[in-house]
Amino acid sequence: MATLMQQLEGTVQFIRSKTQTQTKIGIILGSGLGNLSNQIAADLEIPYGEIPHFPVSTVEGHKGRLIFGQLGGKQVLVMAGRFHFYEGYTAQQVAYPVRVMRMLGVETLLLSNAAGGVQDKMQVGDLMIINDHISLFTINPLLGKNEDGLGTRFPDMSEPYSKDLIQKVQAIAAKNNIPLKQGVYTGVTGPTFETRAEYRLIHALGGDAVGMSTVQETIAAKHCGMDVFAISVITDIGIREEENTITHEEVLQAAKDAEPKLTLLFSELVASL
Ligand code: HPA
Repeated sequence: MATLMQQLEGTVQFIRSKTQTQTKIGIILGSGLGNLSNQIAADLEIPYGEIPHFPVSTVEGHKGRLIFGQLGGKQVLVMAGRFHFYEGYTAQQVAYPVRVMRMLGVETLLLSNAAGGVQDKMQVGDLMIINDHISLFTINPLLGKNEDGLGTRFPDMSEPYSKDLIQKVQAIAAKNNIPLKQGVYTGVTGPTFETRAEYRLIHALGGDAVGMSTVQETIAAKHCGMDVFAISVITDIGIREEENTITHEEVLQAAKDAEPKLTLLFSELVASL
């Protein structure tokens, strides 16, 4: 069987047979947040299904294609639709496209996601810059043999999210009157939303939001030396006093409502890089 590095090289070779475009900025869009891809002047779109060794996305709200194009006057590489651990992929598969991006020259990775907010810290519709994460409740994509060609065995995680990028986005948000929160994202496997006891645990541990993506991508990106910026749209609130429930439809709707603000932040951030 081909090693991870051989698979990555096969994927990159395929993509390079379609385009020679160089891009330093990668973007991965979350559930209900794929509309940013419509703002991109696309030069080339490749459905995931055509890309060797790429998993295929299955969840509603995910378009499942790799887009090369321009945003904010810069060349970007966008994953419209991401892979989640709960779909049955391994953590390594979830992280695979991030490594492909790195091998294609991407140095800065921007991530968005829909997340549950922890009560008294967040409200539905908030945009939360992720300034740190807890990934202990999900599976680390670096488990197994280390690919020394990608990065070190024991990567430092003291600054998973670039302070410099956070400051840039704060300045853009202030200029455009977009309120922003900041906090700790807690990665879980899903696909169940959390029980009340689980929400209380996340609250007690210092989590501000909880979601089923992002942490594997961030870990893989840091491992191979990328700068990461990530932001959550708070689509529902945990530790609920009343007997309310959460549905995927609600999550998608709340994400959609917040989308225009996110599109503006990402476009201006990209323009400033
Ligand atoms: N929990 C976990 N993942 C989520 C949530 C949530 O409440 N909302 C959106 N993604």
